[in-house]
Amino acid sequence: MTVTIFPVYAEEIEVVSRPFLLPPDKSILHRVLFIGSITRSAFRIPIPSEAAISHDIVATVLSLESLGVPIELFPDRIEVQGVGLGGYRMPTHVINCANSGTTARLLMGLLAGQPFNAALTGDESLSIRPMQRLADLLSSMGASIITAPDGTLPLMVNGKQLHGAEIRLPVASAQMKTALILAGLHAEGRSLIEEPWQSRDHTERMLEAFGFGIEVTDEGILLDPGIGPTISDEIEYFVPSDISSAAFLIAAAILLRKQIVIKNVSLNPTRTCFLDVLTLMGVELEAVNVSEQFGESRGDIIVYSANEGLAPFHIAPEDVPLLIDELPILAVLAVFADGESTVRGAQELRHKESDRLSVTTAQLQAFGVQVEELEDGLIIHGIPDRRLTHTTISHGGDHRLAMAFSIAALSCEGPVTIEGAEIVAVSYPEFFIHLAELSGSEHVTTQRQ
Ligand code: S3P
Repeated sequence: MTVTIFPVYAEEIEVVSRPFLLPPDKSILHRVLFIGSITRSAFRIPIPSEAAISHDIVATVLSLESLGVPIELFPDRIEVQGVGLGGYRMPTHVINCANSGTTARLLMGLLAGQPFNAALTGDESLSIRPMQRLADLLSSMGASIITAPDGTLPLMVNGKQLHGAEIRLPVASAQMKTALILAGLHAEGRSLIEEPWQSRDHTERMLEAFGFGIEVTDEGILLDPGIGPTISDEIEYFVPSDISSAAFLIAAAILLRKQIVIKNVSLNPTRTCFLDVLTLMGVELEAVNVSEQFGESRGDIIVYSANEGLAPFHIAPEDVPLLIDELPILAVLAVFADGESTVRGAQELRHKESDRLSVTTAQLQAFGVQVEELEDGLIIHGIPDRRLTHTTISHGGDHRLAMAFSIAALSCEGPVTIEGAEIVAVSYPEFFIHLAELSGSEHVTTQRQ
């Protein structure tokens, strides 16, 4: 799919009356499906539409199907019947995790303690992402995982009886933390998992809400696999919208001077750092209709745009895990801020769907922006109200970069073409539809090959 973005010259603030409904939060939905599958409960998860379901979630649904879990994707819901701890069946084929790092890593944790072997593979991009460091951490619980020679997919999980362990993560990663927790639930004996900095805590909240033996203490996350779950037989789990997808729409609204409402967005405090940074940049935001289910809060976000121009920001290493997926779109916003913005301690961005530090630097430079790439971050020299050089877009097959650069393209001097734009469906299939609604359909045209 090829998308062409035509420049927008927005002057007046405009109120968009129709509220936006975004895809379910990917991190929470992966976890409801995986954690739900190891309970004995029947889960019903309403979804806005099948079209809103990301390719990453489809990878998780298919992986659970391969493990003999009754699971089905309907136009308005996903249903999954938990089979209990130890209820998975040996897959008859290699499990393809497609582009989804969360699917691959959570499966490594879930499969390490099974009484069978299972092989995992993924697409070209996932197949160059690091898996060895998680395999090594899991081995301290007795796991045996053989990766490809360079520590990547494809890999083979040789199921073993696991034992509890005390493990300190070398980097703050919610995927690795979750894999260790899920493995710990299948182990004999207790475990203690520590992370260097707080990362998103959906797993801890969900396990606690479902009555598993988990306690978050000052020393770390304590697991007692002998306890729980204690939830009822039938659960309706309303997954809030993904704040990491909302981040793109919010950024587009700011640059296009639109006032918008996004419904029912996840407001988990380990995910809202992006909103805090925007507030520091001078953007006025409000969360209304806030409620909570299973320990996860959600609410409608109103974006009132920034009247006075954007202030630059400085992201410190301890904040990075709390806005890891929002850094590409923050880099784009920094381009339009009044001064120099910095990001430090973000070396993990080099191991995402692309090397996000180097691909972002190259693209922003192609747009005519002064950017310095550091080993662990970026320095971006912002100029308010600037127009960017119109150039082609290289997103490196990375969904979040394709979305971030498309939003920047609205501020170019002329039309910009994005090839391979279908990659956005990895997390936000309706992105270009929403962007066209916001900017005016004549500014975003799509050609399907
Ligand atoms: C995720 C954690 C983050 C994030 C990814 C989803 C999760 O990865 O980038 O999109 O659901 O746990 P890391 O934990 O590897 O930083």
